[in-house]
Amino acid sequence: MVNLIRKSYISLNEGRISMGTLIYRRKFFGFGVTLLFLFSAMATTSMVATSCTTCHGNGILDAIYNDWNNSKHAQNGVTCQTCHEADPSDVDAISHNGYTISVIVSPQDCSACHDKEAQEFEQSLHSLGAKYYEYLFGKGVLPFLESQIEGGYIVGENDVNITHAATLRGCQSCHGTNMTGKSTDDYLVWPNNGIGRINPDGSMGSCAACHTRHTFSIAEARHPETCGQCHMGPDHPQIEIFMESKHGNIYSSEGDSWNWDVKDWVAGVDYRAPTCAGCHMSGAPGAPATHDVSARLSWELEPAVSRHTDNIANSLGIDFTDGTTWEVKRDRMKAVCKQCHSSTWVDNYYLQADIAVELYNEQYAYVKSIMEDLYEDGLLTPDPFDEVIEFKYYEFWHHEGRRARMAAFMQAPDYVQWHGFYELLQDREEIEHMAEEIRAASEESETSADLDFLLLALGVFLLAELVVITILFFRRQKPELPE
Ligand code: HEC
Ligand code: HEC
Ligand code: HEC
Ligand code: HEC
Ligand code: HEC
Ligand code: HEC
Ligand code: HEC
Ligand code: HEC
Repeated sequence: MVNLIRKSYISLNEGRISMGTLIYRRKFFGFGVTLLFLFSAMATTSMVATSCTTCHGNGILDAIYNDWNNSKHAQNGVTCQTCHEADPSDVDAISHNGYTISVIVSPQDCSACHDKEAQEFEQSLHSLGAKYYEYLFGKGVLPFLESQIEGGYIVGENDVNITHAATLRGCQSCHGTNMTGKSTDDYLVWPNNGIGRINPDGSMGSCAACHTRHTFSIAEARHPETCGQCHMGPDHPQIEIFMESKHGNIYSSEGDSWNWDVKDWVAGVDYRAPTCAGCHMSGAPGAPATHDVSARLSWELEPAVSRHTDNIANSLGIDFTDGTTWEVKRDRMKAVCKQCHSSTWVDNYYLQADIAVELYNEQYAYVKSIMEDLYEDGLLTPDPFDEVIEFKYYEFWHHEGRRARMAAFMQAPDYVQWHGFYELLQDREEIEHMAEEIRAASEESETSADLDFLLLALGVFLLAELVVITILFFRRQKPELPE
């Protein structure tokens, strides 16, 4: 009840509540409480002569006001202040027209009312998006590619800001920036809505990555394009895979008539085929709705070698277990499918996809052995991305290999075959060929080194010979001294 009073109180503050609503609410609270609340609310209204909407909605950032005004939040009395008001002691607090506000509204702020969603999100791999990125930075692997080679190579390593440009607008736009000890004044970390943004208050993530401000709608988040903003491209083309699948076809042809807005939408009633959210997040009998997108995955399909989910964030080594096993996670996803498909259909489909993953794993093991031999024989430098064959090897698992595996699980035959196993075969041929060339070149240079040595030795020998002959010659020329 305190919450409800708080909501109505805030609404009044924004001048958005009508007398009718108040009388309606009276029925719930009882007369006494309402009177008390009415007086205190009116007192506050006169105390704060201006409110956020005095300016916002009256010529300043009206687009933001309008989005908010059309949202469930506005309908439920959640105002600008509710989300943006800050305590002066908050790390990200700023003074703003007589108010103390924070521009950033982190998952921790949303958790005041949406604790379940915030906790589930924190449990998922999504919340580690920026941590992942940072970890690799130290190891000189992937971010090394963007910040040091893609950036640094051209402009020189001393201009840190410019070398960072590709990373900032690339990796970090999807993964998130680290705002620890930073403010929104710092253009190297803000603006950013990456999925795992590390916020000044220490919480991880950005709810606005899927629910854009200030509509914060579930309809938007349920659309595949929302996920597709990040889940696309050569290395994780889930949106392309989805659009190729039968589910994606149905979405494209009929999606306009589905009930996107209803809370707890029901498969077969509100929608006929699942979107990304439908399979990975929405509720089904046996699989409660969740913001933990890792909760229904039985495989780790993104690393070089796929393994069953063990809840250890791959190279990061962080344990983010939800206390279950990969079998439990698989059963949850199967429960989703079984809303619309029979058990035989679903169980057999999983077996088909499983063997595609195993086939890939074996192909990877072979290619890896070729590369390891080259490194062991000192034919490649230990640095990544400084030899052409290393790019091919990287693309083998990180691009084509991921495509084949993911498409097998999400019904996209073209990505399994032509953008998957066919290109894996092509890569393997090229890697074998390049490895042979590297070996041949090294042998050739060994032979030519031998030849060089031989010539040098011959030269030295001839020179020595010449010296000896000269000495002998002069000795012979030496006149005999008379006795
Ligand atoms: C007296 C007018 C006024 C009032 C009252 C006001 N604002 Fe603003 N606000 C502004 C102006 C002007 C800007 C700057 C707009 C721009 O940069 O284009 C702004 C910007 C902002 C920003 C963005 C700041 C940034 O650095 O990116 C936020 C967030 C914001 N206001 C929230 C609020 C909230 C929440 C309230 C109520 C607690 C509020 N404002 C009350 C005038 C006002
Ligand atoms: C449900 C919480 C919530 C409410 C209500 C809310 N905001 Fe926001 N606002 C956010 C979030 C989330 C962001 C994005 C910041 C981030 O990524 O942390 C944001 C960002 C902003 C920004 C900066 C974005 C930009 O594009 O410059 C402004 C300005 C702003 N809000 C103003 C307002 C105003 C004015 C209102 C009331 C009409 C309001 N907000 C209501 C959560 C809220
Ligand atoms: C003061 C409490 C409060 C805060 C803080 C708050 N919300 Fe809400 N939110 C609500 C209420 C109340 C509803 C409406 C619930 C309903 O319709 O069942 C709602 C609804 C939603 C919905 C569902 C909208 C829809 O289309 O059905 C989303 C998504 C959401 N909030 C996200 C957020 C995010 C993200 C934040 C933080 C940036 C946030 N909320 C902060 C109270 C809050
Ligand atoms: C702003 C970018 C962004 C958006 C939007 C986004 N994701 Fe992600 N997603 C990521 C990143 C980055 C990762 C990898 C995170 C990591 O490794 O820490 C990821 C990972 C995942 C994973 C794998 C989790 C695991 O345990 O392996 C799933 C499943 C997923 N996302 C589903 C979704 C769905 C469904 C949506 C839409 C409702 C969505 N994502 C929206 C960026 C995004
Ligand atoms: C278009 C958005 C986007 C960009 C740009 C991007 N990523 Fe990702 N990244 C993702 C998504 C989505 C995933 C999850 C893939 C999956 O689980 O299938 C991911 C996964 C990862 C993973 C694997 C995490 C794991 O669980 O194993 C790492 C590491 C990673 N990205 C690092 C980077 C680095 C470094 C860059 C820049 C060089 C980068 N990413 C650029 C979206 C992006
Ligand atoms: C990866 C995308 C994604 C992110 C990030 C995300 N959400 Fe959601 N959210 C969704 C989807 C999809 C739904 C609808 C789920 C369904 O169909 O039941 C949803 C639904 C909701 C709802 C409505 C729940 C209900 O029962 O009606 C709330 C509230 C909400 N989200 C809050 C949040 C908060 C708070 C955060 C940040 C901690 C957040 N979301 C981050 C995708 C996301
Ligand atoms: C028909 C249901 C379904 C739909 C629709 C769907 N997925 Fe999936 N997705 C799956 C299944 C099944 C797996 C593999 C589950 C496992 O590991 O056991 C998976 C795996 C994934 C992975 C994990 C890859 C990894 O790194 O291990 C990501 C990321 C992902 N999906 C994102 C998405 C996105 C984004 C969309 C929409 C563009 C989407 N999915 C649409 C069922 C679906
Ligand atoms: C909301 C209902 C729904 C859910 C949930 C669902 N599907 Fe489907 N699926 C359909 C419909 C409808 C079709 C089209 C059937 C047809 O072709 O007649 C379909 C088609 C398919 C096909 C056939 C693809 C083709 O190329 O013809 C496969 C395989 C499939 N689904 C697997 C799955 C799996 C695996 C899951 C869970 C990870 C799942 N589906 C979840 C509704 C659903």
